Amino acid sequence: MKCYLVTGGAGFIGANFVKYILKYAPEIQLIVLDALTYAGNLGTIASDISDNSRCVFVKGDICDKELVNKLFEEYPIDCVVNFAAESHVDRSIENPQLFLQTNILGTQNLLDGARHHWVTGKAENGYPLWKSNVRFHQVSTDEVYGSLGTGGYFTELTPLDPRSPYSASKTSADLIVKAYADTYKMPVSITRCSNNYGPYHFPEKLIPLIIKNILEGKQLPVYGDGSNVRDWLYVDDHCKAIYTVIEKGREGEVYNVGGHNERTNLEIVKTIIHTIYQILSREQHYRAMLKKQTILADGSIDISWINEGLITFVKDRLGHDQRYAIDPTKITNELGWTPQTMFDEGIIKTVRWYLDNQAWVEEVTSGDYQKYYEKMYGDR
Ligand code: NAD
Ligand code: DAU
Repeated sequence: MKCYLVTGGAGFIGANFVKYILKYAPEIQLIVLDALTYAGNLGTIASDISDNSRCVFVKGDICDKELVNKLFEEYPIDCVVNFAAESHVDRSIENPQLFLQTNILGTQNLLDGARHHWVTGKAENGYPLWKSNVRFHQVSTDEVYGSLGTGGYFTELTPLDPRSPYSASKTSADLIVKAYADTYKMPVSITRCSNNYGPYHFPEKLIPLIIKNILEGKQLPVYGDGSNVRDWLYVDDHCKAIYTVIEKGREGEVYNVGGHNERTNLEIVKTIIHTIYQILSREQHYRAMLKKQTILADGSIDISWINEGLITFVKDRLGHDQRYAIDPTKITNELGWTPQTMFDEGIIKTVRWYLDNQAWVEEVTSGDYQKYYEKMYGDR
């Protein structure tokens, strides 16, 4: 049995990855390390931990040297999959230092932990000799490439040009991973993915925030003129790509992950409005969860207000990247990965998941979320 140390496994993509591996890769045992920041929720993976001897949870910080060393001593870790990060661009504009701390120094601390436990000796040329079949996998982002105009795609050869404190910290993490590969010949890989969507996405990010606001009868904040483009990928497709790269990808390589699904933010918001409206038109029981309850003459709950009139254009994000678009040719040609879930299907699945899992939304937003929302959107 192989053993993966999955950091950030209580967050959006990490939790989906934990579920993906438990379902599709019976040969792998998981140690999940997560600090449970505002973005991490143990409830998301509670059943995966309690029902499964293949999955152990450890609460802790990736920057904690002692803890990381202890984990390597305690468990036969063959692979580190590093999801743990501060992940929200808007928060990085407010508090850059935390992003540098977690995303750069945390990654470096994990690299060192792995290096100390995976090096078995020294070759004649002075380079370390590595335990066989080990891998440090860094989960990175397309944001390291900066921003595109109307044409072109990010390939693995696109120069790094991060523009926000978040993307600068992720780029720095990629470079320190590369430095360990070049300097110590550490077996590493990196995936750079476009925007994910799907279950367990924290409602500070565009898609779950818009769903939540509609259900609460609130305005839908669109930054700037809504023309910014993101390239959306269903989260399970990302999980499959990461697993494929770890198991089959070449050491030392970067693989871009994306599904050729570019949409403007305005299109995304309109699609969500129409999807919710259609589901609630047909399945009336969902209307009971709306905060705005106007009863019509026929006794049904009014949903006519769920329309594009909810859209509010608000002050733009500072340094807002205009367009991201991934060219996934390398991972498709080399490893046979292609996305399975098309956007039209994925967005319906996602909206339904949120309608059916309001308790999860309430749980994860019960802490500082209201304060955050007021601070971020109050003066926009
Ligand atoms: P998330 O914010 O939902 O989850 C991050 C997780 O990391 C949380 O569970 C949090 O508690 C944990 N964490 C934060 N700081 C930690 C620390 N110091 N020690 C241990 N755990 C810590 O993020 P996400 O959207 O799931 O993103 C996961 C990774 O994927 C990130 O590295 C992100 O940069 C990358 N990524 C995200 C997307 C996307 O669209 N969400 C796309 C490409 C790449
Ligand atoms: O591209 C990959 C990246 O995608 C990941 O590396 C990040 O971790 C992840 O958070 C995501 O970053 P974005 O900034 O693209 O995602 P976000 O959901 O915050 O915003 C998507 C777009 O929607 C962006 O252009 C800003 C806009 N937006 C966002 C929010 C929260 C709005 O118009 N209104 C909003 O309220």
